[in-house]
Order: sequence, then C-alpha cells, then structure tokens
Amino acid sequence: MAQIIRDARELFERCEHARREGARVGFVPTMGALHDGHLALVDEATRRGATLRVVSIFVNPLQFGVNEDFGRYPRTLEADVERCEARGVELIYSPPPERMYPPGFQTHVEVEQVTQRWEGTFRPTHFRGVTTVVTKLLLAVGPSIAVFGRKDFQQFKTLSRLVQDLDIPVELVGMPTVREADGLALSSRNRYLAPSERERALAIARGLRKAYDAYASGQRAGLAELARAEIEAAFDRIDYVEAVHPDTLEPLETPSDAQLILVAAHVGKTRLIDNLWLGHDARP
Ligand code: PAJ
Repeated sequence: MAQIIRDARELFERCEHARREGARVGFVPTMGALHDGHLALVDEATRRGATLRVVSIFVNPLQFGVNEDFGRYPRTLEADVERCEARGVELIYSPPPERMYPPGFQTHVEVEQVTQRWEGTFRPTHFRGVTTVVTKLLLAVGPSIAVFGRKDFQQFKTLSRLVQDLDIPVELVGMPTVREADGLALSSRNRYLAPSERERALAIARGLRKAYDAYASGQRAGLAELARAEIEAAFDRIDYVEAVHPDTLEPLETPSDAQLILVAAHVGKTRLIDNLWLGHDARP
C-alpha cells in the first residue's frame, strides 16, 4: 500500500527518516491523470536504485494561464493511486492547493533565458509556476534522483538550469517520450480529444516521422517544414513548429546534426505539444 501525504512537513519528515535508514529517494512529480508515460518515469527511478519512490500528484494552479484548462484538467486520484501502487510507489504527495499556496504566499522562482521562447511566449506565466512548485517539491522530498519526461523538453531544460543554478543536490533524469502504437504521444490532455480530433492529432506524429525519415536519409535543412506541412493540414491552429538547437533551444541558424523539432498546436479546444530529438529519439 502507498501512503498518501497531504502536508509538506509530514512529507519531509517521512523522507528524512527513510534517508537516515539508508533509503535512496527517487521522485516523480506529476499533475496526475497518470498514464504509461508517467509510470515509465517511476520504473526508471526503480531501475536507478530508488528504494523510496515518491510521486507527487498536484494540479498546480500557478502554472496555468487565466484562460487555460485548470478547471477541467482531469483529476483521477483513486485510479492514480492504484497505478502507483502497481509500480511499487511508497509515498504519494497530494496536497490541497490552499496548503501549497496559503494566503500570503508571495515567493516565486524564475529561470530566465531558457523559458523565454516557445512555451514561454504562448504561456507567459507557465514556467514560473512550474519552477516555483518544483522547487517546493524538491525541498520537501529531498530526492537523490528526480525523473522527468522529455515530452516537455523545454520544461526539462528549465528544471536542469534551476537545479544547477540553485545548487540543489539532486540528479535530474530526462526520459524519452512514450507513445501510443500509432505515434500519439501519451498526455493527460489526450482525454479531451473527441475520436475525430484524436485522428487529426496523429498529424503531429506523421509530421515528426517525415522529419525523422528525412534526417535518417541525410537531409538537414527544412526538416521542421516537413512536419509543419502535415500538422497545418489537420490542426486548427499552430503555435510553433520549429527546428532548434537541443542545448540552447534557440532557432537553428544553419542546418546541423544536432536538431530538435518542437511542436505546439491546437485541435479543437485542446492544445498539444510534442517534439523530436533527432539522432536521439526513436521513430515516432
Ligand atoms: P505532467 O504533465 O503530469 O507530467 C509529469 C511528468 O511526466 C513530466 O516530467 C512529463 O514530461 C512526463 N510525461 C508526460 N507525458 C509523457 C510521455 N508521453 N512520455 C514520457 N514522459 C511523459 O509536467 C508536469 O506534469 C508538471 O509541469 C510538473 C513538472 C509536475 C510541475 O507541476
């Protein structure tokens, strides 16, 4: 049985006690509505020797913009707990929002450069919400390793910068994106998709596959455009489809071997993001 904790102090004490007994703490932060992508992160923590596995499940109001989907974001705690237990998770941290952000809360953590473009342009307050909550979570859990998905590539880059700049003693691990058999990246937001929208959403995987195949056959220029053409034909609106440098996330000035294609686009009321790290990721 996993223990469900709602209080940061109690979480800290539970983890501190385990550490004193010699446990290696592995942490996977999530917003719940858990799918196999999340569970792969838990499995990676286990594979890397975590003996106390902690999953946080918290739909973080601070990282949603005013017109975004905070209110309707899926909340499925009971099923999430079962999934965690099946993967051997010992602790689940699921605090009520008013305990995470009590009246008077006024401290935020901001990472500057790497948050400016892409998601930062379309969701201007998003990353400061992410970095603030993840800092709080890392302080409460004190993990040796924390595992994240590269599906949110810019988020992973941002959090890597955060722990480096603040000397937070944790190893961050970034895992490849888990996909459905047809290529759709697993996402809690896929639950929003009507069947016809889900069909249209496959254009992202199709587009990334075209870029992948072209890259594999030696092409280096115009890869994002291949993806963009597929996505444009099926989606209602594109926020960005761009080839960037995987380290800096700056747009590629000259075609190169090191390329990451970043995608964000809307189908109906649902906004999906995805990416492909050429030379590293499997074929989508
Ligand atoms: P959430 O969207 O629930 O994602 C939790 C973790 O699961 C993130 O590290 C994300 O990159 C990873 N993930 C999501 N879909 C994945 C997939 N298909 N394959 C592999 N990993 C996947 O990201 C957040 O929550 C929040 O911003 C959070 C970091 C918890 C802060 O609130």
